[in-house]
Amino acid sequence: MQSNEEKAPLFQNKSPTRVARAASARAIRLDFSLVNEKQERFFKSEKRFIAYGGARGGGKSWALRHKAALLALNYAGIKMLLLRRTYQELEQNHVTELTAMLNGVAKYNMQRKIFTFPNGSILKLGYCAAESDVLQYQGQEYDVIFIDEATQFTEYQFSALTACVRGANNFPKRMYLTCNPGGVGHEWVKRLFVSRRYKDSERPDDYEFIPATVFDNKALIDNDPGYVDMLNNLPDDIREAWRDGNWDMLAGRYFTEFDRQIHVIEPFEIPEHWRRYRSIDYGLDCLACLWIAVDERGNYYIYREYAESDKTIADGAADLVELSGSEQYDYTVAPTDLWARSQESAKAKADLFRENGVPLMKGSNNREAGWLAIKDMLRVSGGDSRLKIFSVCGRLIEDLPALQRDQKRPTDCMIEPHEITHVPDALRYFALEYTFPSKKPKAEMSAIAEHEQRLLKRARRGRKAPLF
Ligand SMILES: Nc1ncnc2c1ncn2[C@@H]1O[C@H](COP(=O)(O)OP(=O)(O)O)[C@@H](O)[C@H]1O
Ligand SMILES: [Mg+2]
Repeated sequence: MQSNEEKAPLFQNKSPTRVARAASARAIRLDFSLVNEKQERFFKSEKRFIAYGGARGGGKSWALRHKAALLALNYAGIKMLLLRRTYQELEQNHVTELTAMLNGVAKYNMQRKIFTFPNGSILKLGYCAAESDVLQYQGQEYDVIFIDEATQFTEYQFSALTACVRGANNFPKRMYLTCNPGGVGHEWVKRLFVSRRYKDSERPDDYEFIPATVFDNKALIDNDPGYVDMLNNLPDDIREAWRDGNWDMLAGRYFTEFDRQIHVIEPFEIPEHWRRYRSIDYGLDCLACLWIAVDERGNYYIYREYAESDKTIADGAADLVELSGSEQYDYTVAPTDLWARSQESAKAKADLFRENGVPLMKGSNNREAGWLAIKDMLRVSGGDSRLKIFSVCGRLIEDLPALQRDQKRPTDCMIEPHEITHVPDALRYFALEYTFPSKKPKAEMSAIAEHEQRLLKRARRGRKAPLF
């Protein structure tokens, strides 16, 4: 069936009021004057599954809302469902915008979360936070389903929803998806729309992918140039995914920049004047500690590590004291929960560490900021990096590259397998703290040279040097 909304000469004259007038005297506010090429392709596609995906800020959610309005106006009585993963996201991203756009022409029933158009078309808003939330749509029929941020949906939820697209009428039967790389649904979205590897009854001709980059969206670039700067400053893999819509970046291991050839070095004797730091992680099952030195240019050298299971604080602290010898540290940073007091004891774990010779400084618990700070330290530029790990630190060298990305929160790491998280966690607390480059010690001067220096300084300040 040839659908009407594609025939409408909407983009030839790009008139903001054209559709509005057709609907009602009280106008729906549709403004296509800034529509971009990708959005236009999205509007015109007639495939059964249309994914508009890639970079953030490309104008995908905008396109979804406008497509819903176009379909509602052109097919009197059409039934549509618009989904986000959580109700909160739906509220934040669509309810206000849709209410403003539909301008009271389509009435919103807040309880039932349904916009009803004067011509009988409906747009229901919904969410699928838990896997089982999808069951509420079982047995319901929609002509068109929109899934915003489909990569936040599981494959099971997607397949359950495909079964709801049906109806004995001549309206188009379609699913419109928007998606960013990363998320629980990364793999199935990538398979169907990017890699196009089909199985069973999936028909390749049913799927169309429209790649988006943030640069498509002139409306955003003009109004908020800082948004692109923010994307430009992200670590390489996240930037390529979110700015350019690269689907190969956000899967699997988290620290893609880790390179043994660059980051692992043979131990050398740390110069006496370099500043030193320690960073610990302490949980029930493991005490982990890293020793870090900073050179004159602010480069980091992890020169010693410790990771032992089932240690009491007294035993663990004694080990750290012994390994540290006579070294001096600017601080030893530790997770904030060590300052929590339990019911049984008035003393916090941090107090016990201090009493056993390891005074601690409270670190930050912001996981994502910590991981991103490590990525920044690992960043390779000109074949070199600011972070070096002595080859004796076997646990860190093994665990850091083994950490997996959390598919629900692409900027976070998985907390499983748990054993590999302790040593990287210790590094994470350190990565968020200030450090100072080391200063070269002044060369020892003879008494005469010192006196000459003083005279020179005075002369520069315009004072007369005393005669002697
Ligand atoms: N054609 C357009 N005309 C006007 N504003 C637009 C247009 N496309 C996108 N925008 C605006 O640009 C911003 C980002 O668009 P959005 O759809 O939220 O991006 P995405 O969902 O891809 O992250 C929003 O403020 C949106 O309203
Ligand atoms: Mg969006």
